[in-house]
Order: sequence, then C-alpha cells, then structure tokens
Amino acid sequence: MADIIGGIATSHTPTIGFAVDAKKQDDPVWKPIFEGYVPVQDWLEEKKPDVIFYIYNDHMTSFFADHYSHFALGVGDTFHPADEGGGPRDIAPIEGHPALAQHIAEAMVAQEFDLSYFQNKGLDHGAFSPMSLLVKLEEHDGWPMKLVPLQVGVLQPPTPTPLRCYKFGKALRRAIQSYPEDLKVVIAGTGGLSHQVHGERAGFNDPEWDAEFMDRLVNDPESLTEITIAEYARKGGWEGAEVVMWLLMRGAMAPKVKLLHQAYYLPSMCPIATMLMEDDVEDRPEAEIESLRRRKDEQLEGAEQLEGTYPFTIETAVRAFRLNNFLHELVKPEKRKIFVEDEERAFEEAGLTEEERVLVRNRDWQGLIHYGVIFFMLEKLGAVVDVPNPHIYAAMRGESIEDFQKTRNAAITYSVAGTDKQQA
Ligand SMILES: [Fe+2]
Repeated sequence: MADIIGGIATSHTPTIGFAVDAKKQDDPVWKPIFEGYVPVQDWLEEKKPDVIFYIYNDHMTSFFADHYSHFALGVGDTFHPADEGGGPRDIAPIEGHPALAQHIAEAMVAQEFDLSYFQNKGLDHGAFSPMSLLVKLEEHDGWPMKLVPLQVGVLQPPTPTPLRCYKFGKALRRAIQSYPEDLKVVIAGTGGLSHQVHGERAGFNDPEWDAEFMDRLVNDPESLTEITIAEYARKGGWEGAEVVMWLLMRGAMAPKVKLLHQAYYLPSMCPIATMLMEDDVEDRPEAEIESLRRRKDEQLEGAEQLEGTYPFTIETAVRAFRLNNFLHELVKPEKRKIFVEDEERAFEEAGLTEEERVLVRNRDWQGLIHYGVIFFMLEKLGAVVDVPNPHIYAAMRGESIEDFQKTRNAAITYSVAGTDKQQA
C-alpha cells in the first residue's frame, strides 16, 4: 500500500538551476543555496522514495494563455526539461508513473476534484530547478525516483483559493493512500516565498512574513486558508502568492507534523527556502480509504462488459500517444501536406513503429480503435484521405457501406473535412 513518507517545501526560482549548472557550490555568494538543500538530499538518500509527487506551476512555458487550467496532472511516462527561450537545460528526463497518476486522477474525481491531464509537455524551472538540487544527481545514474507532477494554474486569476489548495492536499493524501501497491511517496510543494517580478513593485520581499508563513505552515496551516490571494500578494508580492502550493503539500500531510529542517537565504529577487517535514501523528483511516477505493471505480464499473466499446483511458492515452499524436497533427496544414504528398516520410518523421504504419497505411479503422486510437482521430484521417464518416462506422462494424446505410433512417454521407475539400 502506498504511503506518504514526508513533505518538502522549496522555492523554485531559476537561480537554483543556474547555480547547479554553473557549478557555483564553492562560491561564497552561492554556497548558502546549496547548503540549504543538504539535509533534504540526505533525507531522500536515506528514505529512498519511489515517487515524488511534485506540485509546481509552469511559467507560461508549456501552459499558456491559449488554454489555462487550475489543476493539471502529469500522466506521461517521461518528462523532459522545457525550452524556456535559450534551449532546454542539459539534464536527463525523469520517468513518470502513469499507473499511479491514473489512480490519483480517479480517486480525486471521486472526491469531486476534476483535473486536466497532460503528457509530452516540457517541465520548466518551476519543476526542474529545485529538482536538480533536491537529488544528489552526481551519485546516481539518472534520477533515483519517479515523478508525478501537478501543475497548478496560479498565474491567471481567478486561481484556486488557498482553501481549495489545502482541501486538494487532503484529498490527495487519501488518493495516494488508496493506491494498492507498496510505494513510498514524498510530496513536494514548490514556489514562493515573498517576491514580485513584475511592475514597479518588482523586487518586493518581506522576510518577516516569510518566517511567519513557514511557522504557521507547520503549526497552524488552517489559519493560512483564511487569507485571500490579494492579501498574500500584499504580504508577499504578487508572484509570491504562488505559495498556496506549499499549502497544498501541507494538506497532504497529517494534521500534526514534525519539522526536520528549515533554511532561508535571500540572495537576490526571491528567497531560497527549504522545509522538510514528516507526519507526527497516525493518519490512515483504513475504512475511509477502502470506501474511496470502491467509489473511484464506481462510474466505470460494468463498462468493460460493453461489447465493441473501448474507453480512451489515461492508460490508453499514454500507451498509444505516439499514434494518436501523429493523427492529431493532421489538423496542421503543413503536417497534412507532408502526409498527403508522402505518407512514408510522414511516418518516418513521427517515428511510428511498423505496426502503427501498417494500421494507417491500410486505413484499418477497426485495427486503429483496437490499438488505442480515439475515434476522433479517425475522422480527422478520414477528412484528409477522403473517407466519409459513415464509411468509417461501417468498417468498424465489419460491414459494407451499403449494409450499414440500411441500418440508418437516411442514407447520407458526411465528414469533418472543411475548406481544403471545398477548394479541391
Ligand atoms: Fe513560480
């Protein structure tokens, strides 16, 4: 059974990643940054968690204003560092844990927290900057744990309230505890502390408020849920209000915790702070956890018995991502052009396996569904290769178009193809 073995809070300023990449550990100005992380590194080396559940916010790198969401759970099998303008950092990608992520998603939805799910998106400094100092990377061949990221949309109001974040943490605790396999999970909340990086107020800090916040986070976290976002911004700077993500981590810990380590250093714009805590009371109500385990499956119970029906689950979306993504890319005129002119080149550029190429080459509509392609990619492919929707329905049923049309009230035909076909 999965257990939460500890909680980490850390700033996620780009300074941390820069210090690591520029090897500043012996520079007296930079040294305190490294020292603040040593007790956390030692603790992680000793406890050896299997997974770090990592709460962060992206900085309009992979999550932009074209689609901004509150709680986005990373369900992918690998996460790469993002390119934030000057190329990605030279650090290894980290493995995700799709099975745990799917379980958490189901258990959160059962507790009325609806999430969005992401994969194949780079993680920016909000994630990889502190990650590269939390772990003694030089002592490992790659990352010694897997990572499940949670991206919290704290940049575009209305953002999740502090109370919502705290309650999310509490629900997350039960979601993780209800995972049936033995897993040691550590929760990391990142961001803050007091800082502002935009406008005339850029450079704002308040170390006294930061100290009070850290104390209340340990001893009286519920009082921190009563503060509004504007009040957090007044006390700790507009961007400092991202500290609600620490509250999310704290919600996932037991009501009482013991603080094992705390450090604070303010070299420039943003304090570099770390905290490490463990539960100080038992908080694992087995009956409640068992009830959640049942509720999380309730909505889909019986779906597996529906003949000819293939739900596009997180597991499917991760396993068949390459092929679904290839077909989804057909919504872009430049990708479509390559496919229409030279399918084999398009397959090659997308790195499709031979099995995947055969399915597309043969317009094997039923085979594509069985493989894990969602129907709406089929109708996109149909639009490109001039196969109307009813022909695809007939093929999936294993019928001729004529026989299929006999089952309809009207023998009509249509597709989602737009202006390309009108111009042809
Ligand atoms: Fe941030």
